[in-house]
Amino acid sequence: MSKALEGIKILDFTHVQSGPTCTQLLAWFGADVIKVERPGVGDATRGQLCDIPDVDSLYFTMLNHNKRSIELNTKHETGKEVLVRLIESCDVLVENFAPGALDRMGFSWEKIQEINSQMILASIKGFGPGPYEDCKVYENIAQCAGGAASTTGMLGDIPLVTGAQIGDSGTGLHLAFGIVTALYQRAQTGKGQKVSAAMQDGVLNLCRVKLRDQQRLEAGPLEEYSQFGENIPFGEATPRSGNDSGGGQPGRILKCLGWEKDPDAYTYFITQAAVWKNICDIIGRPEWKDDQNYSTPKSRLPKLNEIFGAIEKWTMSKTKFEVMDICNEYEIPIGPILSFKELAEENSLRATGTIVEVDHPERGKYLSVGNPVKLSDSPVEVIRSPLLGEHTNEILSNVLSYSDEEIKDIRASGAVGEEKK
Ligand code: COA
Repeated sequence: MSKALEGIKILDFTHVQSGPTCTQLLAWFGADVIKVERPGVGDATRGQLCDIPDVDSLYFTMLNHNKRSIELNTKHETGKEVLVRLIESCDVLVENFAPGALDRMGFSWEKIQEINSQMILASIKGFGPGPYEDCKVYENIAQCAGGAASTTGMLGDIPLVTGAQIGDSGTGLHLAFGIVTALYQRAQTGKGQKVSAAMQDGVLNLCRVKLRDQQRLEAGPLEEYSQFGENIPFGEATPRSGNDSGGGQPGRILKCLGWEKDPDAYTYFITQAAVWKNICDIIGRPEWKDDQNYSTPKSRLPKLNEIFGAIEKWTMSKTKFEVMDICNEYEIPIGPILSFKELAEENSLRATGTIVEVDHPERGKYLSVGNPVKLSDSPVEVIRSPLLGEHTNEILSNVLSYSDEEIKDIRASGAVGEEKK
């Protein structure tokens, strides 16, 4: 079966997390992703957070599946010549260098267009044009600058960052969407274009509901926030909302059986209005069904602490999975807090390829997250990440059509590092 992006060549200048997540997705959909790495050094994550000495880290391997690696010093004269050929041969150049690095290398957008007018140049930066456009940015900076941190955490406590990599992987997803859109437009216009995704913008996009709440504040208190029922006044900005649900159906994290010893024995419970009567029945409060003080969503908002207290009394008598089973029968939206141990062992995630076991020649078997987006006509096989420079000769010869003699000369120039044994 063919793959959705078969025939598309990606010149992958990405490193660390944000860019590599983008090009990994494109590779899973069938694009030929050629990762350009500094000779002898490579993507810095190869050697970060290592669990096995002198072996590519999980940080690197889990973000760079299905790619090929070429070692190339793009500041070396011969290296630049090879890079020009790569730009001529590829459809998309993806990069997440610090601002200005590509220009300093001598490959401005204008120069790239001159070499290949069909080229799509896709870039991730920390900030878009403005006062911070020259700043370097990592994940948590983006979470802070994009509004996530100021709205995450418990009221009255310090801002919190979240474990979901919304700045890096989130922006990688945004960029992948932009690239595919630009490829679609190119099919009609025949021209490339520049695709930019700033991490601040990506996080802000994912925090859209918080800007909604910022504007709602002008009309009065946010009644679905717990602090409303607790009579805590609102300030000028969207506050931290603890574990309150971000939508119109109030929800909380509640303790389940065993919470004293198991840090993940909790469930998320949503008091969806449509199933309020079912909730009253299962928690043993049938009198709340028709009591006007509890029967309407509006009447419940000031009493969320009392209501969730009563629900928690019930959830604490059951394991999180028992709570899940019972509530599902009554169509109550609910979800257990799953630990990474539980996720890694979850058979249904293995069956769909969302969790995959990959074999690597130097580190052996490891688990990774596969492609979370499934296309019925474009199957994904997760292939281990490349070793540094593993495909240098193959790319010079098959993609760039250099002769054996020319490859020898390029090697001798020092632009592509040492030949691998
Ligand atoms: N050959 C020669 N030089 C190369 C090269 C190659 N194959 N690949 C990279 N380099 C050079 C770059 O040209 C740059 O040189 P310069 O500083 O002289 O211009 C240098 O390596 C460093 O690259 P840079 O991207 O600036 O890395 P950094 O370690 O200084 O910064 C980040 C890392 C992540 C902070 C920065 O890249 C950044 O802000 N990126 C944009 C936002 C982003 O994606 N952040 C999330 C990362 S998960």
